[in-house]
Amino acid sequence: MCGIVGYVGGQSAQDVVVAGLKRLEYRGYDSAGVAVLADGGLAAAKKAGKLVNLEKELGDRPRPARRSRVGPTPGGAAPPPPPPPTPPPPPPGRPRAGGPGWAHRGGATRGAPPDANAHPHLDNAGRVAVVHNGIIENFAALRRELTGRGHALESETDTEVVAHLLAEAFSAGGDLADAMRQVCQRLEGAFTLVAVHADQPDVVVGARRNSPLVVGVGQDEWFLASDVAAFIAHTRAAIELGQDQVVELSREGVTVTGFDGAPADVREYHVDWDASAAEKGGYASFMLKEIADQPQAVADTLLGRVDGEGSLTLDEVRIPDAELREVDKVVIVACGTAFHAGMIAKYAIEHWTRLPCETELASEFRYRDPILDQRTLVIAISQSGETMDTLMALRHAREQGAKVLAICNTNGSTIPRESDAVLYTHAGPEVAVASTKAFLTQLVACYLVALYLGQLRGTKWGDEIRTVVRQLSAISAEVESVLATMEPVRALARSLAHHDTVLFLGRHVGYPVALEGALKLKELAYMHAEGFAAGELKHGPIALIEEGLPVVVIVPSPRGRSVLHDKIVSNIQEIRARGALTVVVAEEGDEAVVPYADHLITVPATPTLLQPLVATVPLQVFACELATARGNEVDQPRNLAKSVTVE
Ligand code: G6P
Repeated sequence: MCGIVGYVGGQSAQDVVVAGLKRLEYRGYDSAGVAVLADGGLAAAKKAGKLVNLEKELGDRPRPARRSRVGPTPGGAAPPPPPPPTPPPPPPGRPRAGGPGWAHRGGATRGAPPDANAHPHLDNAGRVAVVHNGIIENFAALRRELTGRGHALESETDTEVVAHLLAEAFSAGGDLADAMRQVCQRLEGAFTLVAVHADQPDVVVGARRNSPLVVGVGQDEWFLASDVAAFIAHTRAAIELGQDQVVELSREGVTVTGFDGAPADVREYHVDWDASAAEKGGYASFMLKEIADQPQAVADTLLGRVDGEGSLTLDEVRIPDAELREVDKVVIVACGTAFHAGMIAKYAIEHWTRLPCETELASEFRYRDPILDQRTLVIAISQSGETMDTLMALRHAREQGAKVLAICNTNGSTIPRESDAVLYTHAGPEVAVASTKAFLTQLVACYLVALYLGQLRGTKWGDEIRTVVRQLSAISAEVESVLATMEPVRALARSLAHHDTVLFLGRHVGYPVALEGALKLKELAYMHAEGFAAGELKHGPIALIEEGLPVVVIVPSPRGRSVLHDKIVSNIQEIRARGALTVVVAEEGDEAVVPYADHLITVPATPTLLQPLVATVPLQVFACELATARGNEVDQPRNLAKSVTVE
C-alpha cells in the first residue's frame, strides 16, 4: 500500500521525489517520508498522515537525520560493535542540487502509523536510511538477532530491521549495493527496498522481490519508483526490474544484478503515455476523469487488433496457435473489479468457444487444489500487474504446467512478465483507487481473447467474428452517449445519499455488473451495498426488501434473450410490490420496464454479451456522485489501496 520514489541527477532531489510522491498519492496514504544526501550528511523527515503533513514538516528544508544511541548489551551477549562515528549534522537549508534522495509514501508495513513507524528508517548512527514496501516475514527473528548485538530499534516496523542490517553489512564492505545484496539474501517475504548511505553519496540502491520497482532513465539522471507515474514528467524511458534483483543508481548510470551479484539482463521500454495522461485534466477528481476517459480507453484497446479483413491479430500473444487450439479448459483468476471482468468473460468464452471456463478469486484459487494441466489456459486479469494474490495464482498455475495469459494495463509489471503471453489494455494510467476505465478495457480484452480462441478453434466463423468486432468498435461512441446523459443519474445519487443500504440485482452478464455497481458504492460511499443474482432473490435477498430501499436492477436487452428479460421484469415487479424504490438500468426503448421503474436509466442497445460495457458506466457515475454528496474523497477511499502487493 505504498509508493516509493528515488532520484540521482542534477535537479534538487527533494523537489523531484516529493513531486513524484504526489503522483503516487493514490497508492497508499498513512504516512510519508523523505531522505536526501546533502553535503556529507543525511537529511530525513517523516510524518504520519497525508503528504501535506510532510510538506509542512519539510518547509523548505529537510530535518537532519536523527541519531540514536546504541542500546544496552543484554547479559551474556557479545559486546556490540562500536557504532560508527557520528557525522556532523547537515547544514541548514535546502540540500544541494543533485544530492540523491528518495521519498516514500504509504502505510507503515507493520503496526499503526504514528510518526515513528513512518518511513524512512535509519540505523543507530543515522548514516543509512531505508524505505520498504511489502512485508518481511522473518523480521521478528532478525530483530532479536540485532537487539542481541546491541542495536536499539525504535519502531515496531520490519523496515527498521533492514536499516540496521544494511548499516552492519556496509560497515564491513563499504559498498551499499553489496550490502543490499547480502541483506536481501537474509530476508523472507515480499519487499521493495530503497536505501541511501551518507558515506556513499550520489548512490541510491533499490531491491525487489514480489513487489514493484521500476527504473526511469533520463538525460544524466535516473529515477526509481513503484510506478512510472512518479517520473513520467521527466522521462518515458523505463527499465523493468526482475524478481530478486538489486539496482544501483549513480552518476555513472544504472547497474542491475541478482541478489547473488550476477549481472542481470536489462530491458528498456518506452512508456506509451505522458505526464498529461496522469493529470486530472480539469476534472475535480481522477475518478471523474477516468470515467470520462472510457470511450478513448475502449477505442485504444481495440486499436491495431483487427486486420484489414476484419480478422483478429493479437501479436502480443506469444503462445503458439497450435497450443491454444489444444486448450480444453479456461480458468480466469483476478481480484476486485478485475474479478468482475473475469466473471463476464466467462459468459463470452463459453458461448463463443464452447470451452469450459471457470472464474475464480485469485486468493481462493491458490488455496484449493485446482485441477490444471498443459491444456489449461489460465487468464490472469490485473490492472496494475502487481496484485499479490493474482501473481501467486499464476505462479501456482504455471507450476502445474498450465499456460498463462495476462490481461494487464501496466507495461513491465510483474504479472505480464511472469506470464506466457500478455494482452495489454490501453487504458492509460488509472490513478483513482476504484477501478473504472481499466474495467471496461479488461472487458474489451476478454472479448478479444474469447473471439481469438473462437477463431482458432473454428467455433466462430470469420463473418461472425467481424460482426462482433464491429459491435465492439461501436461501443466507444455508445459509452460517450451514456456519459452525455448522466445528469439525472447524478441527481438521483444525491437524493439517495442519506440511505444506509443499496441493493443491486442482475442476471447473466448483468449479475457481475450488479456486483461491480455494489463494489463501487462500498469502495467510494462506504455504504452497505450488495449485488445479487436476480434468480437468487427468493433464496434470501427478498427478505431485505422494505419500504423505500433503493434497488438497482440491470435489465438485459429485450431483443436478445427474451427469457432473461422477462424473468428480470418479474423480479422488478416482486421487489416493487414489497416497497423497494426501483432504479432500472435498461436498453433504450424497453417499454416493458417503464411501469415498474421509479427511476429509469437508459443505455444504448447492444448485444446481450456486450451490455456490461455500457451498463456499468451509470453505476460508476452513481457511486462517484453519491460518495461526493456524502463528503467522501473519491480518489482515495479510506483503508483501500490501488495496488495490493501484499497478501
Ligand atoms: C484493489 C483496487 C481495485 C482493483 C483490485 C485488483 O483492490 O482497489 O480497484 O480492482 O485491487 O487490482 P488489479 O491491479 O489486480 O486489477
